[in-house]
Amino acid sequence: IVPMSAPCEAPATSRNIEGAGSAKQQLSRLVKESLDSLFPDEVQPIVAACQAKFGDYQCNNAMVIWSQLKGKTTQFKNPSSIGQAIAKNLPESEMIESSSVAGPGFVNIKFSNKWISKHIQNMLVNGIEQWAPILSVRKAVVDFSSPNIAKEMHVGHLRSTIMGDTLARMLEFSNVEVLRRNHVGDWGTQFGMLIEYLFEQFPNWEDAGDQAIGDLQAFYKASKKKFDDDPDFKTRAQQAVVKLQSGEDKYRHAWQNICEISRKEFDLVYQRLKVQLEEKGESFYNPYIRGILEEFERNNLIKESEGARVVEIDGYDIPLIVVKKDGGYNYASTDLACLWYRLTEEKAEWIIYITDVGQQQHFDMFFSAARLIGWLPASKDAYPKASHVGLGLVLGSDGKRFRTRSSEVVRLVELLDEAKNRSKAELIKRLEDNGKITDWTDAELESTAEAVGYGAIKYADLKNNRLTNYTFSFDQMLNDKGNTAVYLLYAHARICSIINKSSKDIEEFKKASTCMSWKINTGIGKIVLDHVDERALGLHLIQFAEIVEEACSNLLPNVLCEYLYNLSEMFTRFYTSCQVIGSEQQESRLLLCEATAIVMRKCFLLLGITPVYRI
Ligand code: ARG
Repeated sequence: IVPMSAPCEAPATSRNIEGAGSAKQQLSRLVKESLDSLFPDEVQPIVAACQAKFGDYQCNNAMVIWSQLKGKTTQFKNPSSIGQAIAKNLPESEMIESSSVAGPGFVNIKFSNKWISKHIQNMLVNGIEQWAPILSVRKAVVDFSSPNIAKEMHVGHLRSTIMGDTLARMLEFSNVEVLRRNHVGDWGTQFGMLIEYLFEQFPNWEDAGDQAIGDLQAFYKASKKKFDDDPDFKTRAQQAVVKLQSGEDKYRHAWQNICEISRKEFDLVYQRLKVQLEEKGESFYNPYIRGILEEFERNNLIKESEGARVVEIDGYDIPLIVVKKDGGYNYASTDLACLWYRLTEEKAEWIIYITDVGQQQHFDMFFSAARLIGWLPASKDAYPKASHVGLGLVLGSDGKRFRTRSSEVVRLVELLDEAKNRSKAELIKRLEDNGKITDWTDAELESTAEAVGYGAIKYADLKNNRLTNYTFSFDQMLNDKGNTAVYLLYAHARICSIINKSSKDIEEFKKASTCMSWKINTGIGKIVLDHVDERALGLHLIQFAEIVEEACSNLLPNVLCEYLYNLSEMFTRFYTSCQVIGSEQQESRLLLCEATAIVMRKCFLLLGITPVYRI
């Protein structure tokens, strides 16, 4: 046991730049130094994790450089000799244990165990924030969820809500300022019909408040039917749009009333999922549309086509309509104004939109229009950047778009509640079987069921590549075996119980682990990675930052899910082959358990899942 008064060097509290960034970024800096010393022209390092039999990481620059230098150099006779030179010129660093060159110039690099363990210890002492990746953007908008007022929020919106929240969380963790935007469909011609129907059916709507409309979806359907069947009503509805848009009080008030009902419904979903969003709906951008269209006109980018005003976009047969035949603005003109606002007023460098993949063309086209007018740079990779994250469909067991028997669409609140209720029943059964049910309070059961139930829905969604359709199945997502949130949450709880059972003070161990003089004197208090499974786990742990970086840059949270699942597999392997409690390496191994639990927890949090500490 480590005495409290052990002489200790002060642990580094902030990140110094030399040790900053992911392991991959740090290694890339070393490779860059080597490249800079060899080649006069700037060469970007190409570094990637590789198969364990070759090393930990591989630098793949040699072949590319050879293809450029071939015939122009006497210094190198083949790609392999370039690889040799890169390896030889790597600066002295405690990070690298060894390097070797294989095949046509692959430089295989192995990290030193000492560095891996130091890297983990730094995280243990100074927090997981040490492992936040460094991204090149400072401010981003994530436009997600974005349901339409008076219409059902469907599973497509749920998928966007889950995905958007995760992307926002990952960017926030990477120190990017994120504007989480709910771009609700609160504007447009459907409001004329809704308002007119409200006036007609509920003349005293102002006194009745929410009660008048009741079920907004039923109300929407009824008013739509009347709109389609009754030409007089249709005319009145069209006039109502004009009155609303010109700001007439009574119409604005009715519109607000309708929006408020929807908002309350949407909030029920956001509260359950613990998703934070700021609403700035389509209506917000309406006042800007005229001005931005004038800018397009001045630049001669707008043409007339069949009575509409359009922007022609290369590569598309149809133009982008920005003013409809009847003179009204539409989804595209709103999105153009909104993009302009985000770029110039909010100064966002990266604007990320999350919708079903069916809207891809809309986004491609108005992004192109923004490029034409110069709001966005010509290169799609340059900043400021706009990205559309397209999502595949959520399918039912029949392979068709997911619906319930009772209604055409699934009510999201009911869906979420069902996940929670099922996981609660499972949990109770499990605890009864183990004879542990009496240890649990009702509140604990409830919060655990929520964490597991909602977590299961989120994880089942996020683990897929976002473009692929997936089948919604409670049985699958709530299975406690396989790649599910239930399995992973339980795995985490098990690690916590290993640490608890040891009845060791892990906080003391953590402090001791960075206490240099103590380590030198006694050799304890640091993480040892002698066993292959210990080392594999350690290496995987330190790859956390680059995985988050990759998930952010490519907008693919499934990469983080895969990492998390592999982490739990590697932990199991380690725990099977390495005795923890009562072993000679107990202290080091408990620290590895702790590091695994911390990283798993961070993965859960980034995925919007609440960790569970006991089962
Ligand atoms: N309201 C749209 C829908 O339900 C999604 C809006 C996405 N965001 C945007 N800026 N277009 O499909």
